Amino acid sequence: MMIKKNIVLIGFMGCGKTTVGKKLANVLKVDFYDTDEIIEEKTKMSISEIFTEYGEDNFRQREATVIESLCERKGVIISTGGGVVIKPYNMKLLKKNGVIIWLKASLESILQRLKDNTSRPLLYKKDFNKINELYNMRNRLYYYYSDICIDTNGKNIKDIALEIYKKAILI
Ligand code: S3P
Repeated sequence: MMIKKNIVLIGFMGCGKTTVGKKLANVLKVDFYDTDEIIEEKTKMSISEIFTEYGEDNFRQREATVIESLCERKGVIISTGGGVVIKPYNMKLLKKNGVIIWLKASLESILQRLKDNTSRPLLYKKDFNKINELYNMRNRLYYYYSDICIDTNGKNIKDIALEIYKKAILI
């Protein structure tokens, strides 16, 4: 199935962007790109290692570089890291050829999903108030930049992928 625009998934850590993106790409038989995975492949380091070794700013720079190279594509699925919205220029580039889809999830479901996961340096060993603050701050940006919002709570991967397909195809 050909899609005219890119489908770009944004949302908070652990909301399912990668899983849903892979599923959707599989169903539509189009290419799938995950910015975090590309950064990890390029550096041969995990995201946590990059944060520890080089710091967050360095990671953000790498993220912006990957987006610059990806935004020229057409008709692909792009899953982004939760912090992509921090840099307005990232979003400008992604919007050029893409429909921006916000996968919205409650903080409860995110914390449940990530409770044994140590791969998110911004969440790992952080206290609840800090995480809650980040969640609220980020949600304002996801709301601002998204063309379509999909509430993922209580839905399975297949249903979320189908909902994206139905909504994004109209744009
Ligand atoms: C981040 C989200 C992560 C990853 C990095 C920073 C963020 O991606 O890019 O740990 O700032 O929200 P996921 O959203 O895929 O977890």
